[in-house]
Amino acid sequence: MHVKAPIRPIIDLSLKADGSTDTALFARDVVAGLSKKQKTLSSRYFYDATGSKLFQQIMALPEYYLTRCEFDVLTEQKQAISARFGSDGFFHLIDLGAGDALKTKILLRELYQQQQEFDYVPVDISGDAMLHLTHALQAELPKVKVQAVVGEYFRALEWLQEHKHERKVVLFLGSNIGNFNKDESLAFLKVIRSYLKAGDKLLMGLDLRKDPDTILQAYNDPTGVTAAFNLNLLERINRELGGNFVLENFRHFATYNPLEGVMRSFLISKVKQQVHLAAADQTFTFDAWEAIHTENSHKYTLEQAQEMGKACGFRTETVFQDQQGCFADVLFAVE
Ligand code: AVJ
Repeated sequence: MHVKAPIRPIIDLSLKADGSTDTALFARDVVAGLSKKQKTLSSRYFYDATGSKLFQQIMALPEYYLTRCEFDVLTEQKQAISARFGSDGFFHLIDLGAGDALKTKILLRELYQQQQEFDYVPVDISGDAMLHLTHALQAELPKVKVQAVVGEYFRALEWLQEHKHERKVVLFLGSNIGNFNKDESLAFLKVIRSYLKAGDKLLMGLDLRKDPDTILQAYNDPTGVTAAFNLNLLERINRELGGNFVLENFRHFATYNPLEGVMRSFLISKVKQQVHLAAADQTFTFDAWEAIHTENSHKYTLEQAQEMGKACGFRTETVFQDQQGCFADVLFAVE
């Protein structure tokens, strides 16, 4: 197939051509995590090419309500949301972790219809996703200027800093903030806030507390897509760091704590075993039924969501929700 050159510039700020993360950094994080008394691996490493594809499959699962609920919020409220973005002339629309931008496209179409003046800056660690998105938007909304940034969140923060004096609306959708613990969330939002000025906005998507069974099912789908997504982390370590994890010797386990509102995902070693990591020339021992903690997915009350914004210098402008009160997109304003 003939491959077209990118139509709009893709600013590849940090990653290698294939979109993979710095191997040395990855190795260091993996060694540090597996050396802890309670082993951990960071959820930031889920999203290699295979992981990104698996996450797209997760978003299409009937059990993974988050995507559909937020889709509903944005579809039902697109007019009101979009009208609040551009009340002050041209702005940059920065989309943190844009992915395929399935949800953002609802807003892009609406903003275009409202004849608002803006450009679109999707940021994602997947270079592949940003290339696809740039092409897709060129075909569907050719008049919208797209400037994709390939990089981690800190690259997005750098971009914000460089455009500190220009009007900006930041999107942080999909309950992506839910991977951060409380301190990390506050620190991240404070940095974002420091690069915004009066009139700028932040639209943040948050999964709300609900029936624990609903939450459990979303992270324990019967088809095993979520398990494959979690286990891909070990496969990625095998591929990129010369690990020899035997995937059949581990299982996905995800559980919800309703007191904290945290969904926690683990990979559990089914047997006593050793795993060697060639990139670090180290061996790690796993006891039978020892767990590796791989992800936190926080669920919020509306009160918590607003407090979080307030603690970081934002005023809650409007809380947009779906009919069932499943998911919230909170519009924060800077004054
Ligand atoms: C992309 C972080 C919002 O925590 O729900 C989906 C990732 N993990 N299924 C989430 C995920 C397992 C997702 N976020």
